[in-house]
Amino acid sequence: MTERRTLLAGLLLATALAAHAAGPVVDLYKNAGCGCCGLWAAHLERAGFSVRTHEVPDASVVRRGAGIPAALGSCHTAIVGAYAIEGHVPAADVKRLLRERPAGAVGLAVAGMPAGSPGMEGAAPVPYEVRLVLKDGTSRVYARH
Ligand code: CU
Ligand code: CU
Repeated sequence: MTERRTLLAGLLLATALAAHAAGPVVDLYKNAGCGCCGLWAAHLERAGFSVRTHEVPDASVVRRGAGIPAALGSCHTAIVGAYAIEGHVPAADVKRLLRERPAGAVGLAVAGMPAGSPGMEGAAPVPYEVRLVLKDGTSRVYARH
């Protein structure tokens, strides 16, 4: 490869990376000690989201404020646009939520921290549900993994 070609390839890559980082902004609220939260953020960034991480003393305060029931709580709460995303929700489901914009939705939640969900890889994967949380406090299955 000539020097000029190398430069051009570099420019194209930089442009691609810039476009990649221009996806929806996600504000992630997590406790300082949480490692799996950072892994989930990296998963979202690989899927094209821009994640801004905010370390807070108690992420459950953000969860309550966002309208996610305690029973669906996990280790972190994120805000993207008008929606709350609780726990290790796959990026593809967040994208689907932003596309479909279901009526009355507060956001999505994966309760607990199921092994095999994004950011929780390593241990043997278990089946888990992504639930759509509604403004009346109820929720229903949005996806199964
Ligand atoms: Cu976690
Ligand atoms: Cu977390």
